[in-house]
Amino acid sequence: MKDSTVRFGLIGFGAWGSHHARAITEASGAELAAISARSPESQAAARSAHPGVPVLADFQELLRREDIEAVSIAVPTHLHREITVAALQAGKAVLLEKPMAATLDDCQSILRAAESTGRLLALGFELRLSNLWGRVQKMIAEGAIGEPHYCLIELWRKPYRPGSGGWRYDLDRVGNWILEEPIHFFDLARWYLGGLGEPVAVTARAKARNPDQPGLADNFSALLDFPGGGYAVISQTLAAFEHHQVAKVTGSSGSLWASWSGAMDRTFTPTFSLKHHDGTTVREIDCGGPAGEVFELVREIECVARAIRTGSPLHATAHDGWWAVRMCLLAAESALHGEKKSLT
Ligand SMILES: NC(=O)c1ccc[n+]([C@@H]2O[C@H](COP(=O)([O-])OP(=O)(O)OC[C@H]3O[C@@H](n4cnc5c(N)ncnc54)[C@H](OP(=O)(O)O)[C@@H]3O)[C@@H](O)[C@H]2O)c1
Repeated sequence: MKDSTVRFGLIGFGAWGSHHARAITEASGAELAAISARSPESQAAARSAHPGVPVLADFQELLRREDIEAVSIAVPTHLHREITVAALQAGKAVLLEKPMAATLDDCQSILRAAESTGRLLALGFELRLSNLWGRVQKMIAEGAIGEPHYCLIELWRKPYRPGSGGWRYDLDRVGNWILEEPIHFFDLARWYLGGLGEPVAVTARAKARNPDQPGLADNFSALLDFPGGGYAVISQTLAAFEHHQVAKVTGSSGSLWASWSGAMDRTFTPTFSLKHHDGTTVREIDCGGPAGEVFELVREIECVARAIRTGSPLHATAHDGWWAVRMCLLAAESALHGEKKSLT
């Protein structure tokens, strides 16, 4: 019989991978069995943060270890396909960071590997597990605003980090910047307004500081149409300061306003609030615990470990990952050519 604890290997110990490592050590039902880190610098950082955990230069060596059942993958986006397919073929369950990949061809290779191996594949949409952003969806599902009609998700923040070797500022390696953070907001909008059906079309606008690189758009907005006339607005600027995110959702009989602020995206001391209007009274909702991606990552590891052990549902599936990439690529095309794009 299997141990109740799932032994995780981590591939990629960069800005976000180091949080994965911490989250695996904090999550109940999970244990950090090994880390694969590429450069001597990131190997040294991994050893120093997690003494006693083996640190391997070659991710294939990690995948060969039979004591590892699940793998968390937090490497630059252009490497997602190669490493995820190898992990699935090695028989591991996988938690893959968003975006699934930067192209639909790469997504298809990953989906085929998941299907042919029958291994679990979860996508890193940790905001769904948030005490704040997840609570919004729970309240909508419970009928707190009636039928949802409209949603705005907006982020105001400082510029992105360059990432190891500057991959995040290189179109060939990042794909585009919609795949970085707006992908989370498309996922949330689809989830929040899911009662209306799948989104049917997108119209986007973007403005890059560098006109030669429209894919690296500092300012991005999109209008997402749902069946029956409901719609969502997604908007982000990276040309600002700090990190302030809101989700506002209105429905036939109420509204919700969630907001989150931190000096940085990865703070352990954010300020956040959720307000509900039921048509007559505004009420502050107690979210029951802290909100922010550093907390949500722990829940994500727990969710994946539970799914491996008990078959419980994942917060975000391979299909959700594929849908979100397709959405972002169509939004990028819409922004480039000024056309509405059908999603059906
Ligand atoms: N869900 C979320 O909210 C969220 C948040 C942030 C990032 N992400 C995603 O997570 C991924 C990583 O982002 P990041 O910000 O952590 O980037 P990063 O800081 O550049 O870290 C990437 C790490 O991958 C390592 N790496 C590259 N090739 C490797 C290999 N073959 N074996 C082992 N390690 C390898 C790099 O090693 P070296 O440093 O040694 O070169 C680097 O440490 C991206 O896909 C990003 O979109 C998701």
